[in-house]
Amino acid sequence: MKFFIDTADVAEIRELAATGLVDGITTNPSLVAKTGRDFLEVVAEICDIVPGPVSAEVTATDHETMLTEGRKLAAIAPNVAVKVPLTPDGLKTCKVLSDAGTEVNVTLCFSAAQALLAAKAGATYISPFVGRLDDIGIDGLELISDIVEIYDAYPTIDTQVLVASVRGPAHVIEAAKMGAHVATIPPGVLKAMFNHPLTDKGLSAFLADWAKTGQSIL
Ligand code: E4P
Repeated sequence: MKFFIDTADVAEIRELAATGLVDGITTNPSLVAKTGRDFLEVVAEICDIVPGPVSAEVTATDHETMLTEGRKLAAIAPNVAVKVPLTPDGLKTCKVLSDAGTEVNVTLCFSAAQALLAAKAGATYISPFVGRLDDIGIDGLELISDIVEIYDAYPTIDTQVLVASVRGPAHVIEAAKMGAHVATIPPGVLKAMFNHPLTDKGLSAFLADWAKTGQSIL
């Protein structure tokens, strides 16, 4: 499973990219607004830090303007994946951009029917929002399972399932068990994935015993 980080915070991206575990980045207008920075500059900076796909979202809602925005975003760096919303205009834009060789991430997916449409429109990634479905009492992970099953049934579909709106490590683990291709993980959730109390306890005990030997490896 590939790990993307769901943030537009360049400092966080630098810190996490240094772990060597980051395969890509997703941003959205809300995440960009939190930084208070210029969107195009932020995207360029992120693309310099992370060689993998960097999702940058269009903000127009009509096809023509989305296409113009998408082309402008794609021109920033070769690793930009243009993010479009799952609307008729968004999918129309997806088709044109992906036919031209640009990676497209179709976002705001909340149903298997929408995921099927995105695949037909040539999406590189489909982003089903797990946490936002859970928030309204619908099992978000069930949607991931449905989409993986449908895509797997058609070898011609090469759209990757990008699990979005991740709220905790359990979302990542369950989605990985289902065979989802990518999870976009908030920085705090990725950091939480490292933690286990038995790791901390075991390390303390090893270090205490090692100190008793009086030895040094160096
Ligand atoms: C995905 O690309 C979105 O940016 C993101 O996962 C949305 O997550 P949220 O529901 O926590 O805002």
